[in-house]
Amino acid sequence: MNTRPLAAVVMAAGLGTRMRSARPKHLHELLGRRLIDWVVGAAAPLGAAPLVVVCAPETRGALDGTMPQGVRLAVQEHPLGTGDAVASARPDLQGYEGDLLVLAGDTPLLRTELLRELVDAHRREDAAVTVLSFRPPEPRAYGRVVRGADGRLDRIVEAADATQAELAITEVNSSLYVFRVPELWDALGRIDAANAQGELYLTDAVRLLAADPRGAAVHLAPDHDDVEGVNTRVELAAAASILRDRILHRHMLDGVTIVDPATTWVEPAVTIEADAVIEPFTSLRGRTVVRRGAVVGPHAVVVESEVGAGALVGPFCYLRPGTVLEDGSKAGTFVEIKNSRIGRGAKVPHQTYLGDADVGEGTNIAAGNITANFPHAPGRAKGRTTIGRNVRTGVHNSFIAPVTIGDEAWIGAGSTITDDVPPRSLAIARARQVTKERRDGDGHD
Ligand code: UD1
Ligand code: CA
Repeated sequence: MNTRPLAAVVMAAGLGTRMRSARPKHLHELLGRRLIDWVVGAAAPLGAAPLVVVCAPETRGALDGTMPQGVRLAVQEHPLGTGDAVASARPDLQGYEGDLLVLAGDTPLLRTELLRELVDAHRREDAAVTVLSFRPPEPRAYGRVVRGADGRLDRIVEAADATQAELAITEVNSSLYVFRVPELWDALGRIDAANAQGELYLTDAVRLLAADPRGAAVHLAPDHDDVEGVNTRVELAAAASILRDRILHRHMLDGVTIVDPATTWVEPAVTIEADAVIEPFTSLRGRTVVRRGAVVGPHAVVVESEVGAGALVGPFCYLRPGTVLEDGSKAGTFVEIKNSRIGRGAKVPHQTYLGDADVGEGTNIAAGNITANFPHAPGRAKGRTTIGRNVRTGVHNSFIAPVTIGDEAWIGAGSTITDDVPPRSLAIARARQVTKERRDGDGHD
């Protein structure tokens, strides 16, 4: 097998009119990552150099600085078709003569392993181009793979240009290819837009290369899911659900209990240790970590937070970025916590908001507590609330940050705490009740 170098181009300059969205298609998210990030993420481990993402002028700003190290951005000024998209990467491939992996930026289910198989097949066959084909349950609008009598690829015909007989073909084009570069540039120079969509089709370059002495090879993807494209929001949701299932399967096989996979969303960068339990209607986002024996949900949303071993979250709980629940602690029902540390075994059982707070080991936060940490003077940082170890707060306490409550202190119900409370003391900060008894003749009824 030859070992020519490998470069890659991701076509992502189409705006995706079928999404019917003000947002360009490749910026739509699945499980917290943009469509384009899934594709680049699958291609990056191949080490192709350069890896060029072809984007639209409208998406350049959003992509700039957000791609992995070494990825280059090229702009296709107008979406004239997939052939023109690849040609737009040519300035970034000046002097390059190896193999070029071409990917559609709208196939988020791609796996690196499949791309490796495609590159290997291309090198084995030594063809001018190798097309990755697949057999979807419904061939829909995919380009049909037309093979000659010898079984070799003859051409790819777009659904819009196909005859009835061609539409009946069930093997379709995935829009993933490996080309030999000098041959590709030559073929792209010879295509035109004389087709139903008036576009410069990359598939026409494939047709021209099929007539090249090296010919065009086809590699059939074993699993159609891996290469399904996303053109509509129906397909976006379908792809997201497959990605979701893949992630959940991996966690379940690693020893995590997912009670109801159908209503559980776990983003790709989340870590969950064995014997954690994820209850229904729960969403774990960003680089969240859930340690062994923790129970999260039902109805919990955890973003960029750490849930310690044996900790309990929910039902109905929202943990926002920077929250750390230490081992054995609890964030219960209708509780929202942001950028706070809840110490070992500490409990925040109900109806509470804690932001920018440190809560010590063994402390109990009673129902309806609020940290008031919003800086009302412009330019002032949010203050922190520090609550020591084994503190007992009362129901309906407000803590006006910055404020510190010492270890083992008690706070009376309904208190608004503005001053520090020393260790082991009791603080009550509320108006005394005034009760006026009715006397005959008051007439206040
Ligand atoms: C394309 C293929 C079709 C294949 C299908 C697989 C062509 C002509 N057709 O059709 O054979 O079955 O993918 O999903 O190639 N793009 C650009 N610039 C453009 C046009 C498109 O960057 O001017 C990008 C799009 O953003 C997208 C990819 O190329 O990521 C494919 O384009 P799309 O319009 O989705 O092509 P399909 O109609 O799906
Ligand atoms: Ca597409």
